[in-house]
Amino acid sequence: MTASTKKKTILVAGGAGFVGSHLCDVLLADGHRVICVDNFQTGSMDNVRALRNHPDFKLIHGDICEPIIVREQLDQIYNLACPASPPQYQADPIHTMLTSVVGTANLLKLAEKNGASFLQASTSEVYGDPEQHPQHEDYWGHVNCTGPRACYDEGKRAAETLCFDMLRTGRVDARVVRIFNTYGPRMSPNDGRIVSNLIVQALRGEPLTIYGSGEQTRSFCFVSDLVAGIVGLMNVSANPGVPVNIGNPGEFTISELADLVLEMTGSASPIKHLPLPVDDPQRRRPDIGRAKKLLDWEPRLPLSEGLALTIPWFAETLDLKLPKQRSTTIRPRSERALAAAVHS
Ligand SMILES: NC(=O)c1ccc[n+]([C@@H]2O[C@H](COP(=O)([O-])OP(=O)(O)OC[C@H]3O[C@@H](n4cnc5c(N)ncnc54)[C@H](O)[C@@H]3O)[C@@H](O)[C@H]2O)c1
Repeated sequence: MTASTKKKTILVAGGAGFVGSHLCDVLLADGHRVICVDNFQTGSMDNVRALRNHPDFKLIHGDICEPIIVREQLDQIYNLACPASPPQYQADPIHTMLTSVVGTANLLKLAEKNGASFLQASTSEVYGDPEQHPQHEDYWGHVNCTGPRACYDEGKRAAETLCFDMLRTGRVDARVVRIFNTYGPRMSPNDGRIVSNLIVQALRGEPLTIYGSGEQTRSFCFVSDLVAGIVGLMNVSANPGVPVNIGNPGEFTISELADLVLEMTGSASPIKHLPLPVDDPQRRRPDIGRAKKLLDWEPRLPLSEGLALTIPWFAETLDLKLPKQRSTTIRPRSERALAAAVHS
């Protein structure tokens, strides 16, 4: 280990969740000590089971809305604690808001006490239903502060405010990443996010539910690319002092995603259209120029390659059969046409 990669003690709030558990894996593999704090609202013990006997892994079952007591000296804190899927964050909207506001404030105080660097997982949802496309970090967003998504969107916006006030007042080296839709193994199969929904429905032979016309777009980032970006932001020597988008700029309509999932799973499931939820954003695509410039970061995995790693994980987890064609290299027609369109 070199001086710059000296062993650190790192707290990961939300470390038993989808992204947080991959982050714990990477930090432990890099030789650090990891303290995971999670209330298991949406996280799962399965995500961290393999780490339980690791000598440098400690699990604290706790809610960040309450002050977190840690007796070890901390070097870094990542705050990923917050349900990320709409049905989950809307199930207890007040707790979601408090998690982002009170929980983030508690962790910032812990960072201040320890002189630890702090990274806040924010979201593309701070742009709301954007009027600018693609979304650059300087765009202030178009968010409905009274709608059913506000507990998440406005909570994350307030958490960003807390971070930048702590930074401006010289109290905490706080950094903010704005995460765009991320997918991969360990997403909860039933949490209602679009990629997991479509894969699980296709594997079960159930109708694929598309909300609205399916013409709304999203950009999908594979989880290992996201984790590389957030670790990069935490460790870049000069704090950029501004939020940084991390996501994959490849833009797909939901119908295109559904077609790709059907093609890659070999499923014969039909498509079923349901009404669009309130305040659902129409277009989503990150401008990642800032991440490229400041962190020398860009995503490596195109959607088809990420799905080729994700679909078998869902099949195994749910004990569902994969069709025979999965054993061949998957380069779907739709992917090649879409990639050409995205890069043209
Ligand atoms: N995955 C994405 O596409 C995406 C996109 C944008 C932002 N994010 C952000 O990244 C972070 C991680 O998202 P994820 O996809 O892993 O979601 P997730 O729901 O799988 O993980 C969140 C974790 O936080 C825990 N948690 C929630 N509230 C808590 C509280 N009050 N105290 C302690 N633990 C709590 C949950 O139990 C879970 O383990 C979240 O902050 C989310 O807002 C994710």
